[in-house]
Amino acid sequence: LPSFADERTSFHFQPERNWMNDPNGPMFYKGYYHYFYQYNPDAAVWGNITWGHSVSTDLIHWHHLELALVPDQWYDVEGVWSGSATILPDGKPVILYTGSSNESLQSQNKAVPEDLSDPLLRKWVKVSQNPMLVPPPGIGHTDFRDPTTAWLESDGLWRIAIGAKEGTTGLALVYKTSDFLNWTLQRSFLHQIAGTGMWECVDFYPVSLTGTNGLDTSKVQGNQLVKHVLKASLGSNKHDYYTIGTYSTDLKTFVADDPTRDVGLGLRYDYGKFYASKTFYDPAQERRILWGWANESDSQLDDIKKGWASVQLDIEVTFKYPDVQTLDVPLEQKECVCSQGGAAQRGVFGPFGLLVLAADDLVEQTAVYFYLTLRPNGKWMTTVCSDQSRSSLAKGIDRTVYGTSINIAPKENFLSLRLIVDHSIVETFVQQGIACITSRVYPTLAVERDAHVLLFNNGSESIAMHTLEIWQMSNA
Ligand code: FRU
Repeated sequence: LPSFADERTSFHFQPERNWMNDPNGPMFYKGYYHYFYQYNPDAAVWGNITWGHSVSTDLIHWHHLELALVPDQWYDVEGVWSGSATILPDGKPVILYTGSSNESLQSQNKAVPEDLSDPLLRKWVKVSQNPMLVPPPGIGHTDFRDPTTAWLESDGLWRIAIGAKEGTTGLALVYKTSDFLNWTLQRSFLHQIAGTGMWECVDFYPVSLTGTNGLDTSKVQGNQLVKHVLKASLGSNKHDYYTIGTYSTDLKTFVADDPTRDVGLGLRYDYGKFYASKTFYDPAQERRILWGWANESDSQLDDIKKGWASVQLDIEVTFKYPDVQTLDVPLEQKECVCSQGGAAQRGVFGPFGLLVLAADDLVEQTAVYFYLTLRPNGKWMTTVCSDQSRSSLAKGIDRTVYGTSINIAPKENFLSLRLIVDHSIVETFVQQGIACITSRVYPTLAVERDAHVLLFNNGSESIAMHTLEIWQMSNA
């Protein structure tokens, strides 16, 4: 049997043991980053969900604290599900979360710190007015969950969005409040898209049109130069889709800039394993930070054996974009689909890229590569893929080849990959982040000193590497 001892992640957040899923209520309070997460304290499978709680001063080294919220009320006895934190103007944090009752009724609930002078916020109190919100008419009892961070508008009222569905239309409801106790449902939805199914873990936040700093969710009022990002996690395919658009503070609705790339139709945060994500504004460094759940992709049995479910390198390589125009051999025209053949394909320009977590004779290897193909319309297409099909000899592992096509502007004469290689995670950032791919990989031989990095090119034309930097990271 393969041993998984070496695969606990070393600088991606993990609890000491057992199951975790969504990130919840991330925030910065009195010098500490707080991270809560859906957590089963009893087993390495989903169930008995509580809010685990850890704190850090640098987002790298974590201290695990006692559970922040546990199922101990009739309205959350089936689980303390996902939610968000809001820091009020007086600095006090408020948590809103979904409870699932003994009859599987989903409701929104509030919890506040017992002692605001404790920077670790170890104890949380559920307010006596809970449950504050139950599904409105037309929304099913199990289709009403995951409240966002609240945002303050110029009318002095706070608003939150909650994911739901009507039939197969995914949507975000909006509620407004002045006191976080009495709420009014807004008649219009924030947004809705037919056919996308239940919207889980909705996230909604402003981004600047003029600068690169992150924006505080509530500091944006009126017609500042901002756009908004709306994200929904689609339960149907377990991917996080976002879009960029305009939030009309008059109509209280969101309109995507490009309807063909609306929520669930186009852009994803990540083209691998990355789900139920949530952002928060970090006032210490004026940035917005995104957390996501890189769920395990081995079998549930293996998760139980490991007791936790869910060579550390930072590599950056750039290649010269090949001179595709000067080629005079006739080219077969085709579209590259990552899942058809993976890195083992042979083309003209690629596949080429990196093999990581590769065993001596390459019986285990995770390939991250580019593949340039000439489309039937005569245009070149650049595809980037992360191939898990040969990443492990273990059985019962997800062997998907993830990927997406990217737009390379004519003036861009390079292709770059940055790979963060943790024991069982390979994160890929393409062209400095225009696409991200997170993979879970479970090598059995390619571990520690037996895990190698190689460059490869399976195409008939040569490819010039421009730069390569490899950093070994210490264990966090
Ligand atoms: C997303 C999700 C949420 C829910 C939570 C329960 O992964 O299904 O919608 O609140 O997980 O653990």
